Amino acid sequence: MATFPVINLEKLNGEERAATMEKIKDACENWGFFELLNHGIPHDFLDTVERITKEHYKKCMEQRFKELVKSKALEGLQAEVTDMDWESTFYLRHLPESNISEIPDLTDEYRKLMKEFALKLEKLAEELLDLLCENLGLEKGYLKKAFYGPRGPTFGTKVSNYPPCPTPDKIKGLRAHTDAGGIILLFQDAKVSGLQLLKNGEWIDVPPMRHSIVVNLGDQLEVITNGKYKSVEHRVIAQTDGARMSIASFYNPGSDAVIYPAPALLEKEVEEKKQVYPKFVFEDYMKLYAALKFQAKEPRFEAMKAMETNVPIATA
Ligand SMILES: [Fe+2]
Repeated sequence: MATFPVINLEKLNGEERAATMEKIKDACENWGFFELLNHGIPHDFLDTVERITKEHYKKCMEQRFKELVKSKALEGLQAEVTDMDWESTFYLRHLPESNISEIPDLTDEYRKLMKEFALKLEKLAEELLDLLCENLGLEKGYLKKAFYGPRGPTFGTKVSNYPPCPTPDKIKGLRAHTDAGGIILLFQDAKVSGLQLLKNGEWIDVPPMRHSIVVNLGDQLEVITNGKYKSVEHRVIAQTDGARMSIASFYNPGSDAVIYPAPALLEKEVEEKKQVYPKFVFEDYMKLYAALKFQAKEPRFEAMKAMETNVPIATA
């Protein structure tokens, strides 16, 4: 079986550029996931983010999680729980406007750190979108522009901790789903695994690698590429020992952005009269996703297709 794709981004600057671009292309076409090394974000900076995030969990989140476990009777489960996840989270929004100053319990140091973290990841996400454009044969900036809409992209970070779980066979850390948005950049625990993706009907571990950034593609990239790239189902298995940290940043279209397959990628499909993905306003997709996150994506695409007559003409 092919091994999980790990991309050394530094190699884009040398004679292995073509081979590296090919690796990214293969990962996008066949995995929907890849892991980046030498992505330009300093290692000591990532170490600080990991340390402060774990300190914050211990100080401000752990007790609350224990109380939740107690109140929902999640200790010593006998039957499978399918409507909850074994995770402790909070969400930071960066774009179109930051909400970091409004999030309770964060120290000034943590707020400042996460603002800087978001800037670095926003830059990396945009670089990656251009690499994808290059591989797809789209003009540079196409994907960024497609996400931009009237007010720029939406960008946010979900900070999660998956505490040790006594019954991981009865409750998932996070139930299987595809991500609704654009491109997702994950800084995950250096040691504690748990993230798995579904490939050919088998769950495959996304290996923890110190200082790496895991990238995965969301439903919107599947629509824009008309299925050349696909969002892939993934889940988190809680561990019986070891708490897992996971900081996922979502670079998504603006809420008013009109999303549709890139015309340059449709020529063959139109000729062959093949199915074309829908056109919709991103916000409408998100409304649907909010209720159907843990279900298959195909009915979401079909529902958007059925609503298509209401979509304004795209100006992007
Ligand atoms: Fe996800």
